[in-house]
This record gives sequence, C-alpha cells and structure tokens, in this order.
Amino acid sequence: MNANRPVAYVADEALLDDLLKLAAAAGCDLELVPDASAARQRWSSAPLVLLDQTAVTACVAQSLPTRAAIVVVAADPEPPELWKQAMELGAERVVTLPGAEPWLVNALADAAEGPPSNSGKVLAVLGARGGAGASVFSVAVGLTALKAGDNTLLIDCDPRGGGLDVVLGAETEAGFRWPDMRLSAGRIAAASLHESLPTRRRGNAQMTLLSGARKGEGPAPDAVAAVIEAGRRAGEVVVCDVPRQLDATAWAAIDRADLTVIITPAEVRAAITAAQTAEELANRGTTAQLIVRGPSPGGLRADEIAASAGVPLLTTMRPEPQLAQSLERGDFHPRSKGPLTQAARATLTELATIRSNPGRGHGDLRAVS
Ligand SMILES: Nc1ncnc2c1ncn2[C@@H]1O[C@H](COP(=O)(O)OP(=O)(O)OP(=O)(O)O)[C@@H](O)[C@H]1O
Ligand SMILES: [Mg+2]
Repeated sequence: MNANRPVAYVADEALLDDLLKLAAAAGCDLELVPDASAARQRWSSAPLVLLDQTAVTACVAQSLPTRAAIVVVAADPEPPELWKQAMELGAERVVTLPGAEPWLVNALADAAEGPPSNSGKVLAVLGARGGAGASVFSVAVGLTALKAGDNTLLIDCDPRGGGLDVVLGAETEAGFRWPDMRLSAGRIAAASLHESLPTRRRGNAQMTLLSGARKGEGPAPDAVAAVIEAGRRAGEVVVCDVPRQLDATAWAAIDRADLTVIITPAEVRAAITAAQTAEELANRGTTAQLIVRGPSPGGLRADEIAASAGVPLLTTMRPEPQLAQSLERGDFHPRSKGPLTQAARATLTELATIRSNPGRGHGDLRAVS
C-alpha cells in the first residue's frame, strides 16, 4: 500500500471510469475502495479522498470524521442537495465533470508527487550585453550547486544562446531538448524531466539540463513556467539562463525567480545597458542584483557600476583562467577555488537566504476554481 495514493470511493461506474482516465493523465495511482468501512482504513492517511454522491451518503451514515482534502465528484449538472451533503462531511469542494477535469488532473498530480520535501529556489541569470558571461555563469552555478549536493535544474531560456548543452560539453548526449518537449497540459512532473533530459550526477545529487537545440522556436512562456515550477515543487535549485531580449518567455522566468542577477563586464557600455536592464526589471517589480566581471579596462569599479544601476552588488569575479580554451574543447569545469565558483557560491548563498517568491506556483487545493 502506498500512503501517497489518493483514495477513490466512487460507486457510479461511468464517473469512476472518467476519474481513472484523469488519474492516468496525472500519472497518479488511485486506490479504489468499495465502501465506507474500507474508506475509513485510509481516511487519515490518504492525501486526497474522492467521493461520489452515493459514497458521501454512506460516509455520513457511518459518521466518518471531517478531514482535509475531500473532493466530491459528480457529472454535470450537479445533483440537487449534493453540496449540503458534502458540507456535512466537511468536503473542501464539489466538482463537476467534464468542466473540472483540468483542475482534477492538477490536484491528482499534486497528490501523487506528495508534499514537497522543501520548496526549491529559482535563480534567473541575465547578461548586461551580448557575451557578458550569463550562459557560462548559469552553468557554473548549476555545477556548483550539484557539487554542494543539491538537485539542480538548469533551464536554457535563450533560443539564440547556442544551447547550454554546448557550454556544458553535453551536445552529443542523448535526451530531449526544448523542441522535443510537448508541454500542452501546463504541468509536468520533475520525474518526467529527470527521465527524458540529459543529466549529470554526483553522489546522490543530480543536475538536469533542458537545453535549446539551435533549431526551431524558442520555448513558449507557459512551457518555461511549467518546467520551473516542476523543479521548484521537487525542491531543486532551478537556474534559468534568460535571454537579454525581455520577451514573454524571459518574463516567465524572471517573474518566478526568487533572485535575478545581471552579469556585467566592468566596461562603460555594459554598465549602461546593465542600468537599462535593471530599470526594466524594477518597472516590473524585480530588484536585480549585480555581478561584475573583470577585467576593468578603464578602471571602472564594481560599486560604481552597481550605484549607477541602482541595484545591490552581489559579488565580483576576476576572469576565469583558461575558460575560452576549455569551452572550445567542450570540457568546461569551473575550478573549485576559481572566480566563477566563488561567485556561484556567493549567489547560491544569497538565493538560499532569500525568502521564497511569494505565491508562485505552490499548489493549493482551494486556489483553483
Ligand atoms: N567568467 C568568465 N571569465 C572569463 N571569460 C568569460 C567568463 N564568462 C564568459 N567569458 C567569455 O565570454 C564568452 C561569452 O560567454 P557567455 O556565452 O556565457 O555569454 P552570454 O552572456 O551568455 O552571451 P549571449 O549574449 O550570447 O547569451 C565566453 O565564451 C568566454 O570566452
Ligand atoms: Mg548566453
């Protein structure tokens, strides 16, 4: 017996048939019980209880106690008096099919995934100018988190970035890229990502990469949102390499991020575009933090750049030695005491201390009507 399985006590066969199909779509295994006594066995442990009208009547007659997450299901139109009966049992809601199918699939998927062990954190990385180092830094953060034992999801949101798989030296590895993803349901389980995407393992932790593929369209905003939320629900460190062009896809990542960083070289023109980007973010309610990458050919200081952009300076980094060569060879491994790793650690520390982005994607049974 799996304690995560929702319980369904549904006497109406046509309704039960529909529910089983929805459960299959949600990747959820339902435990079917035939009567109120059997329902009582799982009453306190089931994450979700689905009942039809006959079942509600039987549960009330058997005086089953009120509990959270009871959902009463009926075919449309809702039978008269059903809501009253459902109230007697303390049900959270009455839903009618087929209208509530998308809601039920979400609720079943939530139940199947179980409670999140710890909610994940989302980082968005932006470059102040082309070639600022955003993609390299995104991969460096992913690898640093993996080394620290965190499950990590690295998402390439930039269709013109050449593919994060190339930065990681993983372009020949099997597994899906963005054009292979079919995310029509608006929701995906982290387990499906782990199965279908290229991964890197270290001890018990793994980093999963969803890369662009140098062809086709870039990811749609909804698809980016669905993947980010899958990683967050699974408690992962989610790192998004965001395009500089702030389109709907870029905002899908930034709006969900707990921390947004702008990487800027210590040059006058990059400092100007960093300030421009910071302002665009601020207009949408996001205060970014700045990472300044040396060298500074004109002696421009990191704190001056941050002050002119009006954002906090998160950290600075010297150029990573031998980086261009290792990227060309496809064996990029930031040195463990090198500037990239140190900046990545500072960013992960900041991400860990920051309060979660409120109200983003935390499934709540009552939140969906
Ligand atoms: N930390 C670093 N130290 C030294 N050189 C770097 C660093 N980061 C990036 N570079 C150099 O800059 C190049 C561009 O880096 P990267 O692709 O990460 O930039 P980007 O901001 O993602 O660019 P794009 O605008 O194409 O998305 C690298 O190939 C490398 O040569
Ligand atoms: Mg890039």
